[in-house]
Amino acid sequence: MNISRNFILAGVAYLLVGISFGIYMGSSGDHSYAPLHAHINLLGFTLMTVFGVLYRVFP
Ligand code: HEM
Ligand code: HEM
Repeated sequence: MNISRNFILAGVAYLLVGISFGIYMGSSGDHSYAPLHAHINLLGFTLMTVFGVLYRVFP
């Protein structure tokens, strides 16, 4: 349970960072951080959340 919870919390932390880059790109019009933004969100948030949910389903 603890591993699952820690993965989900790590995902939330990455999501806040990733979304900050997204908001920065949207407001500045400079999209050069798109790959960084994409991978912080996809690996950091999506993958960590998948890990967290899988550890809960298959403890
Ligand atoms: C408030 C939240 C978000 C904002 C304001 C935002 C904004 C942006 C912006 C401005 C771009 C650049 C688009 C381009 O240059 O073509 C982008 C690209 C991207 N974003 Fe976000 N984003 C947000 C959340 C997310 C989340 C949660 C994910 C994934 C879980 C995500 C995944 C991606 C991906 C994969 C790309 C690359 C798309 C491409 O290569 O054209 N974004 N986002
Ligand atoms: C360690 C693992 C990974 C590495 C080394 C990696 C590397 C890369 C590279 C080199 C690109 C091309 C960037 C460019 O065109 O400038 C890319 C694009 C992309 N990757 Fe990954 N990737 C990884 C994992 C993932 C994962 C797990 C996902 C999805 C869950 C993902 C989704 C994407 C997407 C949507 C793009 C297009 C983003 C864009 O054009 O801005 N990647 N990746």
